[in-house]
Amino acid sequence: MNEVVRSAFSLGELFDTVDWICERRDARYLSILRSKKTKSTMPKKASKKKQVTPERLMQFGFAYAPPLIIGAAVSNKVFDTLETGGKTVEQVSKTTGASQRGLRAIMNALVGLELLKKDRHEKYSLVPESEAFLVSNKPGTLSGFFAMACTHLVPDWLHLTDAVKTGIPPVAVNREATGPEFFSVLVENIIPMSYPAAMALGQSLGLAKTRKPVRVLDVAAGSGIWGITLAQQSPLVRVTAQDWPAMIPTTKRITQKFGVADRFSYVGGDVLEADFGSDYDVVILGHILHTEGEDRSRKLLKKVFAALKPGGTIAIGEWLVNDARTEPLPSLIFAVNMLVHSERGDAFSFNEIKSWLEEAGFKKARKLQAPGPSPLVLATKPG
Ligand SMILES: C[S@@+](CC[C@H](N)C(=O)[O-])C[C@H]1O[C@@H](n2cnc3c(N)ncnc32)[C@H](O)[C@@H]1O
Repeated sequence: MNEVVRSAFSLGELFDTVDWICERRDARYLSILRSKKTKSTMPKKASKKKQVTPERLMQFGFAYAPPLIIGAAVSNKVFDTLETGGKTVEQVSKTTGASQRGLRAIMNALVGLELLKKDRHEKYSLVPESEAFLVSNKPGTLSGFFAMACTHLVPDWLHLTDAVKTGIPPVAVNREATGPEFFSVLVENIIPMSYPAAMALGQSLGLAKTRKPVRVLDVAAGSGIWGITLAQQSPLVRVTAQDWPAMIPTTKRITQKFGVADRFSYVGGDVLEADFGSDYDVVILGHILHTEGEDRSRKLLKKVFAALKPGGTIAIGEWLVNDARTEPLPSLIFAVNMLVHSERGDAFSFNEIKSWLEEAGFKKARKLQAPGPSPLVLATKPG
């Protein structure tokens, strides 16, 4: 299993697929979520008068559908069934037990979403993107994420109107009492989001060539994927993974699955209360600041500063917004996700995080371009 996991997560393969998706992003249905308005089909004279059309809003009206359709296809084993080759609706129905009527509707929509293709004989088959990321036994699969969209994320988002009115989330996953139940499902499903970024971080740190031991602290480690990826790059890497005590069994299980558990130790506790230890070369904050909100994030950065060696590096994975909070759209939507799921969470800008890093004593705050929602934010503890 470990060999399978490692080989399927080989740098080349994953980056190739990520590039392929990025190149094609503009051609896809979700391009309606870009902030720029689509070209008007109005004649030139009329468009000069800036006549608006309801076209974009009408598209938004069903923009909730793609994740639900993908989730329904995952849960009814559509992608898994097509892994062995193209099949008709009748054949998929026979294998899965799902209704022909239901399958026909979602499989045609998946053709429209360019996640399936259909031939002249009404046989549906996978495309490279669905084959790589929606078949459930593939190591980088997002199938669990879309299943979770149906069972957890969308049901929570249905309370958005109340959350806006009160400022209180329907589910506060930043709390130890409720968080682990949510995160123990989420963290494994978001491994494909952070794995390529963690690879890029390890490369920028030159881990493959290191001759000295490298001590890494993975704060709010979840699956442990940031530490796991760095540990894969050098046998000299040792990782301390910190998370709530109820999450540590999940972290342990996944580090074992990746075959690096012998170089991991675990610290259970709240990020602001746990004993991090000291003298780390690298500390990673992977997707935790947005749940913590500003005040706790600023405290956490000070605590991380104290845990690093002089010359050590902090690396932060986030969904960054611009200073004016007008783009990029995925990060602005993610900020709403934080309204729905946390009491103080938000999406922050590079300059906000930079100012908190400098307040904590860090220097050289910088961006590292990496696959994922945003560049990583790096900074150095002065030597
Ligand atoms: C979005 S997940 C990110 C996991 C991992 N770092 C990654 O990037 O894939 C957030 C993680 O932070 C942990 N977490 C959230 N709030 C915490 C807190 N106050 N103290 C300790 N852990 C916390 C959750 O249990 C979860 O594992």
